[in-house]
Amino acid sequence: MSPKKILIVYLSRTNNTKAIAEIIQKNVGGNLVALELDKPYPENYQQTVQQVVKENETGYLPPLKTKIDGIENYDVIFIGFPTWDMQMPPPMKSFLHQYNLSGKTVIPFNTNAGYGVGSGFETVKELCSNSNVLEGFSIKGGIERDGVLFVMKDEKLKEAETEVKEWLRKIKMIKQ
Ligand SMILES: Cc1cc2nc3c(=O)[nH]c(=O)nc-3n(C[C@H](O)[C@H](O)[C@H](O)COP(=O)(O)O)c2cc1C
Repeated sequence: MSPKKILIVYLSRTNNTKAIAEIIQKNVGGNLVALELDKPYPENYQQTVQQVVKENETGYLPPLKTKIDGIENYDVIFIGFPTWDMQMPPPMKSFLHQYNLSGKTVIPFNTNAGYGVGSGFETVKELCSNSNVLEGFSIKGGIERDGVLFVMKDEKLKEAETEVKEWLRKIKMIKQ
């Protein structure tokens, strides 16, 4: 059997989720893709929160600038996103609506300000109802509201590496 082809797709505004995506890639390999929008969110945090709340209320799916060629060739797709408004961010909803991941293994991961993933992993299951969705990984990242942006460095990065490896072993993506 040929080895499984792995894609790691993530959304990250202040690079915490990106750091987790990079740890995953270091351990399992695969291609790393950051989701970008046609029209990026404002730099201002409060404006972004207001826009996201509105998009969640109306079900608006922001168009993606990122295009992924040959997604059908991948067997395993990691899906990484921060918690926004206690949900999956609208751009990741756009991605999961746009691409058909039926029959693939889907593995979600998340960073948040300490309030957890909210409904994010449930939404992955709903939008990937014909995929094999494995147990997700969630870790505390930044708290942009309080001006705490990127935290995945030094000791915190080491802790995250240990936790990510434990999780990857548990879901049998790595041996040791
Ligand atoms: C628009 C917006 C909304 C957020 N809403 C929440 C939330 O509801 N709960 C939470 O725990 N963190 C929330 N956060 C904080 C992020 O989840 C946290 O800082 C995360 O680590 C950011 O990941 P990133 O660095 O990959 O962008 C929010 C951040 C933004 C920008």
